Amino acid sequence: MDKDLQNKLENFPIESFQHDLINWYLTEKRDLPWRRDQDPYKVWVSEIMLQQTRVDTVIPYFTSFITKFPTIESLADANEEEVLKAWEGLGYYSRVRNLQSAVKEVKESYGGVVPNTPNEISKLKGVGPYTKGAILSIAYNIPEPAVDGNVMRVLSRILSIWEDIAKPKARKTFEAATYELISKEDPSSFNQALMELGALICTPTSPSCLLCPVREHCSAFEEGVQTELPIKSKKKKPKPLQMAAAVLYDQNSNLYIHKRPSSGLLAKLWEYPNVELDVTTGKTYREQLVDYLQDEYDVKVELSELAGTVEHIFSHLIWNISIYFGKVKNTPNGDLVPVTETELSKYAFPVSHQKIYQIFKESDFNV
Ligand code: ADE
Repeated sequence: MDKDLQNKLENFPIESFQHDLINWYLTEKRDLPWRRDQDPYKVWVSEIMLQQTRVDTVIPYFTSFITKFPTIESLADANEEEVLKAWEGLGYYSRVRNLQSAVKEVKESYGGVVPNTPNEISKLKGVGPYTKGAILSIAYNIPEPAVDGNVMRVLSRILSIWEDIAKPKARKTFEAATYELISKEDPSSFNQALMELGALICTPTSPSCLLCPVREHCSAFEEGVQTELPIKSKKKKPKPLQMAAAVLYDQNSNLYIHKRPSSGLLAKLWEYPNVELDVTTGKTYREQLVDYLQDEYDVKVELSELAGTVEHIFSHLIWNISIYFGKVKNTPNGDLVPVTETELSKYAFPVSHQKIYQIFKESDFNV
């Protein structure tokens, strides 16, 4: 830890900070479904869902996921397709693929009990330093830091830390500070209180300092620089890709779908056949899609005019998808699977492909 931060911590009223923060949390905390008990499995599921996803979005997913898969055992034994379906729409699907691998490991190697040591727990797939600290502190009351972007924002203000929180190495600084600050009596409430303060009071652009329970311990407030912190350099802009997708159907009203490869973006999800386009050739999007369907799936098809467009923004990519419809004139190869519209609801699709289906449903083609 650098000298400056060490100095600040030596002069920081740690006990009074813990006391004010935890008391505020105990009276003001939201009633969230994962706070009703300290079951390590539920804490784990909630913390994985809450990475990259807002609390309001997570609540209904968490409730239905726990109803479908109430225990480690039930998730370990569940059909992979059903598990992906339960995550459909939440994004970052590697989270749930890793979660299922990890609970299988817990079932097989730890008798179905989530391990409670930093060393064992961090060997589980998808359990990084944040999730490790969150499970150990919230479920097992072990004083380990659980530092995510929100906690870095809060602590950068409290302690006036001007390090760039977008840089991976910043987390170490904040973990070191948290080891000093964390309550040894109630680490569970302490870590959750930091998260809750970040969500309710110490918000990114206009923090409610006048309502803050730890305002009197806050360096940034004292110096009037709360809106200048944290320092967070901008991420690279997502790269736009032009794509075309086809909703293919046959005379029996089957739709043709494709399962994405088992690794990479949106692994193992289902999609309508689609291709990234070359916008520099003289060929139209429609012609490029027809050629692709022929080469990749042996499909003979005459495609409709442009039926609509869908945009989907990922953290690193933007998909701009032009949508076409077509009735197949032959049987495509096995990489395209025919399904009825009723069966469709069993398959997990990325949100962009759910939108493609909506465009098809709302069109005159859907007769
Ligand atoms: N964000 C991350 N973890 C959280 C939790 N346990 N409660 C509320 N918000 C959170």
